[in-house]
Amino acid sequence: MTLEIQNQRIVTPFSLSIHSETGIPDNHDTLIERYLSKLADIYLDSEAAEAMVREKGDILTYQVFEKDIPEVNGELRFCSSIVYPGKVGDEYFMTKGHFHSRRDTAEIYYCIRGEGFMLMETEEGAYALEAFTPGRTVYVPGYYAHRSINTGTEPLVMLPIYPGDAGHDYGTIEHTGFKHLVVESDGKPTVIENPKYTN
Ligand code: F6R
Ligand code: ZN
Repeated sequence: MTLEIQNQRIVTPFSLSIHSETGIPDNHDTLIERYLSKLADIYLDSEAAEAMVREKGDILTYQVFEKDIPEVNGELRFCSSIVYPGKVGDEYFMTKGHFHSRRDTAEIYYCIRGEGFMLMETEEGAYALEAFTPGRTVYVPGYYAHRSINTGTEPLVMLPIYPGDAGHDYGTIEHTGFKHLVVESDGKPTVIENPKYTN
């Protein structure tokens, strides 16, 4: 719902609850569901991803429950982002990851449940990794591509909050990949260089 104040169309006040176990909100407008069959290419071993789908059937790797908040300067968009536990080979389930179309826009991720990491990289080669545990909050500065990775055994539930006009640029990451990958090695999450990264 929107209303007009001082010639601006703004969102009317509202609230919602996000379930602390499932991460599912009691109210949303749009649900994005990402299945492994469509995401095989984001994994280092994309053939293993395709084989998993052939053998086990398709797998829901993450969901994003969104409210339709206008994508304009001044508004804040937010969602419940849930990455399910699992691995393709040694590589943990993760989001596609993206830059913001407006590169100077930052974002905050509040972790509600689960364990994992936020991988952040700039086009100039700066890199950072921050851990997600329940209650932990990650600040993603502008100019950093960001990807959330579930390294645990339960859903990784996060509340991302970002400027309305940030936008999503998926194309750059689809083309180059991230420079780093988080994989399981000796039973622990470990960062390695992505041999498929192209600059
Ligand atoms: C918005 C944002 C999150 C992600 C969500 C899914 O700027 O960062 O809402 O969109 O966590 O990840 P992607 O968009 O990479 O599929
Ligand atoms: Zn973002």
